[in-house]
Formats: sequence, structure tokens, C-alpha cells
Amino acid sequence: MKRYTFSLLVFGITISAFSQANVNPDSIRGKMQWFADAKLGIFIHWGIYSVNGIDESWSFHNKKISHADYMKQLNGFTASRYNPEEWAALIKESGARYAVMTTKHHDGVALWATRQNHFSVAKNSPARRDVLTTFYKALDKQGIKRGAYFSLIDWSHSDYPGFLKDSNHYTVAGDPQRWQRFRKFFQAQINEVNTAFQPALWWFDGDWEHSAAEWESASVRNQILQQNPSAIINGRLQGYGDYETPEQNFPVSRPKYNWWELCMTINNNWGYQPQDTAWKTPFEIITIFADVVSNGGNLLLDIGPKADGTIPPQEVQVLKELGKWNKKHEEAIFGSVPGLPQGHFYGPTTLSKDSGTLYLFLPGATTGDIMIKGLSSKINDIQVLGTQQHLQQKIVGKISWSPVPGLVFINVPQAVKDPYMTVLKLTLDGPVKLYRGQGGLN
Ligand code: GLC
Repeated sequence: MKRYTFSLLVFGITISAFSQANVNPDSIRGKMQWFADAKLGIFIHWGIYSVNGIDESWSFHNKKISHADYMKQLNGFTASRYNPEEWAALIKESGARYAVMTTKHHDGVALWATRQNHFSVAKNSPARRDVLTTFYKALDKQGIKRGAYFSLIDWSHSDYPGFLKDSNHYTVAGDPQRWQRFRKFFQAQINEVNTAFQPALWWFDGDWEHSAAEWESASVRNQILQQNPSAIINGRLQGYGDYETPEQNFPVSRPKYNWWELCMTINNNWGYQPQDTAWKTPFEIITIFADVVSNGGNLLLDIGPKADGTIPPQEVQVLKELGKWNKKHEEAIFGSVPGLPQGHFYGPTTLSKDSGTLYLFLPGATTGDIMIKGLSSKINDIQVLGTQQHLQQKIVGKISWSPVPGLVFINVPQAVKDPYMTVLKLTLDGPVKLYRGQGGLN
């Protein structure tokens, strides 16, 4: 959050409240189903910023480097060891159901061979090719949905009002024709990507620099959907998206939105930056992921490949470990629905869609006695997920004449502990029933 602490905080509140303002949740429920079931996506920030290992686009915007020097990185973007099949296989192994690639960041450099008169790695870098097509094809083979990140802002385009900030500044009202030229340009690029790749998910960014009217958000949305009706659009199109995108910061109370996705880096940066060694551990990532899923969200976990197309080993390791854990606990996560409201269990929970199965995620490598409060359903069976072990329950403090259920204690022995996070599968006697009162008070 180093770059725009204030504006983004304000912006965060604004998008939370308004970003879906123009989209009716009932009309999109059907097409959102795969997204709601997907739970995990991989975000990929790949661009020329990986050559020097500096902030994606923001480095020249914030004048840490001149625009000319920033663009010189084009000469180092080789993609010489880029293996899209390997990327897709790794994404598959992580358990992710979709992947979102930066087709163009705020620096304006397209990863596909844009027909517009503007930068692309195909035309302006030694990679000399479109690196998107092969990636999306590799995703298809693995059954992973295609996501396209696209920055509305283009700080390298001479018709964009922020072009090189001070030198070329103009206002939209002051020069509507010039803005109209930019509008035609960025919409043509969106059209190219939409036609060529038919992304299942559009991930816009940078909407905060202009209003919905200035971007023509309504028409951008309509044009995408005309050609690609099942596409999902993220909430950064000034009120014309389908779901919310909290960034790096995770919700404490359960968000009220129908659909949301936390985008998060594995270290502290989106793109490849060798000096950033603040790697989140697999344990931390899994703990965060379980929490997100328990609260009805998806995690869009970011990786930042190097300019040669290789993925830093620390990121590979996190994806693989996450994948192992996901495989063992698949049914508790993918296709599940948000779990119990806060207060019943001190840890994340999910439910099967019929709510007859309750999954408890034991936080902090817990073993010993765990407790559930206010569960009126009877538990028929308790299994340590991914093992053959079944556990016993003890009902404590049930008063015969009271409707308040007893506390459920379950002893979890050391021997069944998962290296990262143990999950218990509780088979209930029917759809979950909860007691939500205040003990004897009501
Ligand atoms: C912010 C940043 C951008 C990054 C994005 C990812 O909007 O501007 O650099 O790509 O977040 O969510």
C-alpha cells in the first residue's frame, strides 16, 4: 500500500459500497456459479518491470526511474525460457480453477500482438512473440479458466491525460477529442483481447482515474458481453462489475457481498523483485485461504515470473504445497459454501451445498480438545479429512429441559495432525441447524 495509501483507502471504501451499483445480482447468479465454486485463482504479473525487478508501472509514475529508462526494459524482456505448458501444469497442481494474466499493465505494454499503434512485447522486445495465446491454450488443456487483467489506465499513451504526468497533462473536459481518441484506442484493445481469447473473466484495473461516463463503462461491459456473454467482470469498472476485489487486506467480519475475491501477493510485490524476500509461508497462505473460503470469498494468489519466463522457486514451492493440501482437503473447499457464522467455532468452517456436512479447519496446528457451540444438529460421524481416522464426540452441558444444545468437544490426537491445517469432516443428521441465542437469556 506504499504507493497511494490515502487514495486507495478512500477508494477501497468507495468500491466496497458502489462498485456493483449497476448490476443486478439475480440476473448474473447463473454465470457466477463457477466462480463461486472455484475458490482459488492464480494472478500473474508478468511484464517488462521484471527485467530490472522494479515496481510494475508505478516506478516511473512515482519518478523512481524515468519513463525512458523504464521502457528500456523492453530490450531485456526475452521470455527465452518461457514454458506456458509448465506454468499451466503448476497452476493446475496448486488446485486453482482459473488464472488471471496481466494482458497490459498501466505501463501500456501489451503481452499480445496488439494491432493498435502501441507497445507490445511481440513488436518491441526480443521475445518477439505474443506470449498470451500459448498460455491460454495451455490453460485450456488443463481445464483452467482464462482470466484477462487489463489496465484501463495507460500511462505511456500520448492521448492519455496522465501521459508522463506533468509534461502532457490535459483534462478530459478541456480536450474531449483527444480523450475520444484514447477511448477508441483502449476499447479497441479490449475488443481484440475479447475476440481473440474470449476470457471467462475480465479483471480491469485503474478505474479510479476516471468516471464511469468517461470510460463509458456501461458500453464497455455491454460490448464484452455481446460477444462473450458468460464473461465475468471484476468490480473495477466504476460500478459495472460483478464482484468485489479487496486487495492485500483481508476482511475481519464476513463481507456482505454475494461474490468477492481477495487478491494477494506471495511476498510484498506483484511483479518479480529479487530484493523482496518477505515470502509468505505455505502455512500462512493456507491459513489465509481457509479464512477467505470460510467467509465466502475466493483467493487470487499472485506470482511474478522473471523476464526469461521462469517462476521464482519460492513461488513454485508455495503453489505445490498449497496444491498438496488442496488435494487432500478438496471436498471441504471446492464447491463448498461459507461455513458457520462467527461464534460457533474458533476457526474457519465450510459447509457442503446441502449443508449436511460441516468442515472444521483447525487453526494454528491445533490438536487436543476443540469445542463447537450452538450446534443443534446431531453429528453422525467425524472423520479427519484425507485419512481413515474417525474421532469421537463428547456432548458437554446439555440440559434436558432446555432448547440450547450442549457443547461438542472433540479430541484431536497429535497423530492425525496435518502438517499445515487439519480439517475435520462432520456428517450431520440433515441440513445444519444452529442455536444462535444468548444461553438462558432467550
Ligand atoms: C493495484 C495496482 C497494480 C496492481 C493491482 C493488482 O491496482 O495499481 O499495480 O496490478 O493493484 O490488484
